[in-house]
Amino acid sequence: LVYLDHSATTPLCAEVKQAMAEAMEVAWANPSSMHGAGQQARRAVDRARDQISAVLGCRAGELIFTSGGTEADNLAIRGVVSRHGAERGRHVVTSSIEHEAVLATCRDLEQNGLIDLTVVDCDRCGVVDPRDVADAVREDTVLVSIMHVNNETGVVNDITTIAAAVKEKNPRTFVHTDAVQALGRVDVRIDTLGVDLISVSAHKVYGPKGIGTLWHKRDVALRGQMSGGGQERGLRSGTENVIGIVGFGVAAERATARRETEMARQGQLAAYLRKRLTATIPEVWLADPDLTVANIVTAAIPDVPTEITVTSLDREGICVSGGSACSSGATEPSHVLRAMGVEQRYRNGPVRMSLGEQTTEQDVDRVVAALATVRDGARELIGKGVVPVRTA
Ligand SMILES: Cc1ncc(COP(=O)(O)O)c(C=O)c1O
Repeated sequence: LVYLDHSATTPLCAEVKQAMAEAMEVAWANPSSMHGAGQQARRAVDRARDQISAVLGCRAGELIFTSGGTEADNLAIRGVVSRHGAERGRHVVTSSIEHEAVLATCRDLEQNGLIDLTVVDCDRCGVVDPRDVADAVREDTVLVSIMHVNNETGVVNDITTIAAAVKEKNPRTFVHTDAVQALGRVDVRIDTLGVDLISVSAHKVYGPKGIGTLWHKRDVALRGQMSGGGQERGLRSGTENVIGIVGFGVAAERATARRETEMARQGQLAAYLRKRLTATIPEVWLADPDLTVANIVTAAIPDVPTEITVTSLDREGICVSGGSACSSGATEPSHVLRAMGVEQRYRNGPVRMSLGEQTTEQDVDRVVAALATVRDGARELIGKGVVPVRTA
């Protein structure tokens, strides 16, 4: 199997598996229980909280464990709006290239009349311009939510400049970033970014699925969205996912320790992939390598729909995905490529190849050869009128 879909999810690494297996033996009790077994589970949660706070450079007590990046994004947006909307204003700014966890949450609040929403577009390279964000900020803007690394293109937004520009325009506006694709790939330390809230998730860094965290600055009070036992300082009720949290702590620490060497290695492989792709399929569209995270190569072959590429490669034992693998089976043209103004004939066919720790040059050679075969086959079918070329 050639697995080039690490932005969709990563396999559990050996260290995480071992830590989780140990936790299953010794930390299975309820961390809220007063007895020794419960306190052992509590210590396991606290250790993971320390590991993740070291990665983000924040205080351990400012992290809220959630069921993943989606819930962390929801909690950030809904939690800020419901707590501060009345006093600071109900205007929210986001971008058109956000993950659905942010975009759909904002749209839901807007449709329910709870916020006024401004959606800022990206430029033709897929980057959100800090000036556009600052221009959109108003007196009554309570929250700006802009993603750090885009999950479809790998484009990295300059969150530091965005946060500074927003604060300059309105110091009372909170800034959130979805850093789910950024953890383990770029610097996500809060003092570098200058934001008030960050969402991250374990399963993009060789940790388990179903666990993530929201960091919020101490003075950004939130309203929890789950009623219940009052865990996580009352901000996320429900017995903690202790085993997942332990796995997340180890995964975050490990990914951060290996970040520079791994990104240098994967960056070289990504450059090799782009070189081979443009030599083999000269008409290919590629996201700008200077603007993207090291491990993501997003390409599009004109007039070859994503579904055809992904399923054909799958038959060859190669896993890649279309733009947004999170919404499984989605065949909609990419909203991100549309926002970038990419030509229609490329827009239906983005293929995201996201490299990982196990990826080799041989894997790259195999995917390029397979893509060339797909291109030839699809052209033949299109010639016979079998593959409909989308025009809308
Ligand atoms: C940018 C981004 N945000 C949020 C999420 C959702 O995270 P989770 O799968 O942990 O809910 C993803 C998942 O792919 C993502 O890429």
